[in-house]
Amino acid sequence: MEEQGRRGNVITVFSTASAVGKTLVAINMAAELARLGYRVCLVDLDLQFGDVCNYLHLVPERTIADAQQAAESNAEAFDVIQFLDVYKCDEISFSVMAAPLRIDEAYNMSASAVQHIVQRLQFRFDFVVADTTSAFSETNLMLMDMSTIITFLGIVDFIPTIKNMKIGCDTIRSLGYENGKIRLVLNRSNSKTKIDLEDVENILGEPFYHVLPNDFGAAWDATMAGVPLVRNADTALARDLRALVARYTNLEVADEAGHNNGMSWFKRIFN
Ligand SMILES: Nc1ncnc2c1ncn2[C@@H]1O[C@H](COP(=O)(O)OP(=O)(O)OP(=O)(O)O)[C@@H](O)[C@H]1O
Ligand SMILES: [Mg+2]
Repeated sequence: MEEQGRRGNVITVFSTASAVGKTLVAINMAAELARLGYRVCLVDLDLQFGDVCNYLHLVPERTIADAQQAAESNAEAFDVIQFLDVYKCDEISFSVMAAPLRIDEAYNMSASAVQHIVQRLQFRFDFVVADTTSAFSETNLMLMDMSTIITFLGIVDFIPTIKNMKIGCDTIRSLGYENGKIRLVLNRSNSKTKIDLEDVENILGEPFYHVLPNDFGAAWDATMAGVPLVRNADTALARDLRALVARYTNLEVADEAGHNNGMSWFKRIFN
């Protein structure tokens, strides 16, 4: 019975602005975890305007809306695996739960239905990576509660973006999660801006946990090819995406202080 056994980790990729790189980061996290040998499902929870399948050049046969319908019509017989597509590229292979194809289907998805589906996925995968929208919606808040890690993605471009990042950070902090659950990640770090990074960190009240560089060419090529950047470590962006996942899984040899961390805390959760 799938309800027995351990539960996989949920990694949610969230931001308080659009076009910050949530989908790119979520895809590459899923791909890198899969490359490392984990069983991974990437769930597109940008329900109205999901891009995961476009970015991966997948034509989904089933979507999360079909999964919701099946779960509601016969909960006993519901098998979440039947509603997944598989993305494969060289040694990288992971499952994808596609966003609904129509807006009305997306509109009719309830947070509790999403919760039920994500829970089912947790029993079948080591990692469930969720791509989201930039909103404190009921679905996103539910997902944050379920998450092992919330990757809060930010960029430093315009003042309103930073204001919204600050509101988002304070709001998530006010939810009282355990230390280490929220990871502030800066994307497109070296893109041109007049705003000082240190000022932003002071406003947010903490330094960025990890920094990803701006590389329009690499991001564009990956999207055009439908291939995750982390397939090769031939760009700084790909290497830093790999490094982020290594930090999440503690697979890096040494931590920031230069010490070996021993067993990863993900593995401790599993055991
Ligand atoms: N580090 C980066 N360097 C250069 N371009 C990037 C980087 N990260 C993302 N991009 C590009 O920025 C654009 C937006 O990325 P993406 O679609 O992942 O953002 P998003 O936060 O998911 O947006 P939305 O809120 O619309 O879902 C894409 O064209 C993507 O290729
Ligand atoms: Mg997106």
